[in-house]
Amino acid sequence: MLIELPRHTEIFGSVKIHELQRVIKLDSGGAENPRACDITWEDIKSILKRLAIVVPVKNENLHLLDGVLRAIPFDCTVIIVSNSDRVPQDVHKMEREVITNIHNLSRQEFLCIHQKDPEVGFAFHDVGYDYLLDKSRLVRDGKSEGMIIGMLLAKSLGKDFIGFVDADNYVPGSVREYVLDYAAGFCMSKTPYTMVRLHWRYKPKVVEDRLYFKKWGRVSATTNRYLNLLLSICTGFETEVVLTGNAGEHALTTDLAGIMKYSTGYSVEPYHFVYLFDEFGQRVKEILYPDACNAGVEIFQIETLNPHLHEEKGQSHINDMLLGSLSTVYHSALCNDEVMSELLDDLVDILQSWETPPPNVVMPPIGGIDAVNFAKLLESHAETFTWLHETTVKSEIEEEYLKGESFQAV
Ligand code: GDD
Repeated sequence: MLIELPRHTEIFGSVKIHELQRVIKLDSGGAENPRACDITWEDIKSILKRLAIVVPVKNENLHLLDGVLRAIPFDCTVIIVSNSDRVPQDVHKMEREVITNIHNLSRQEFLCIHQKDPEVGFAFHDVGYDYLLDKSRLVRDGKSEGMIIGMLLAKSLGKDFIGFVDADNYVPGSVREYVLDYAAGFCMSKTPYTMVRLHWRYKPKVVEDRLYFKKWGRVSATTNRYLNLLLSICTGFETEVVLTGNAGEHALTTDLAGIMKYSTGYSVEPYHFVYLFDEFGQRVKEILYPDACNAGVEIFQIETLNPHLHEEKGQSHINDMLLGSLSTVYHSALCNDEVMSELLDDLVDILQSWETPPPNVVMPPIGGIDAVNFAKLLESHAETFTWLHETTVKSEIEEEYLKGESFQAV
């Protein structure tokens, strides 16, 4: 892959945020170029083998899920964490059929679990991590909560890198690119504490009767502005380096995943920045993770070649995301009165008042959890735990397939 070198890197305490890097070509010929980094296919492939891709899914169109799963490079292990309905129709069972079918045809490794499986709640309780459980000891709703399950399963398999892709992507080819972009980011990194965040080149919308290739959505533009403001007020130098505040498509090293805190639901991505600013930034009072502070935390922001075309979930969903994002900024240790009052101006339409936005639930780091034990508990007790790997015996679905009844997504 040929990828632009970052023109500038913002250094904030132990955190290095590289400016946006564009993908010049998805493959390359090794030509010398002082402005670009040439990453060989062999290097990318060696990362893919150590990378698990987590796909959080909640009641998405099965055709889209099917396309997303097929597009993830074969060398990666795919971990699907579902929060889809079980009644009146068992959507999750249908998802498992889609996954099993792809595994049976390709032999790619898949792992799948349902977020609300009571055994997932018990396993969290057993390993001493109750922070994402509700009163009935089930895992709460929320994308972030699903991502935590996925990260622990990735760690239990000994993966060094964990990436995320949403299940509602219309274009399988773009999903494949996202995973290759993650691998390219890890090839460029110089520390075990690295995060790669993607910025979609365009997010097309239908405007009247034609496609309009939009660059920025309201949530991303607003979140980025405030995250940059936090940095600017702290350093005294204005910056626009953050362009991936809401990057649902991101990946991180397992080492970094173990020391991050996670904000609930969709606020998880902007909170990555807020947490890193608060805990590893310029004004840190107490060093909690000396190894990470010494090695430094690197954030790569890569602009994809492909546009991002996904399911639109409506205005109230967008408002919820904006509220979640801005609340993380408002409650950051770096936020001052000036930023707070600007933020309230932006939130008044959504909250219908000038009240302080409620703080998001934040879950502590998962690095101390015995992930192997967590996975073993699920494997031996959870009804929805499915692990399809090379030696998995022929399933009923495969038998059916071999009889000639091929799967049709519904
Ligand atoms: N396991 C699980 N549990 N998955 C969930 C849940 C849940 O409670 N809620 C949503 N998901 C899945 C969806 O099925 C989808 O695959 C993915 O999480 C993202 O959810 P969407 O509802 O499609 O989010 P979006 O497209 O509006 O926003 C995405 O992009 C934003 C950046 O523009 C998300 O990835 C955001 O987190 C991101 O900030």
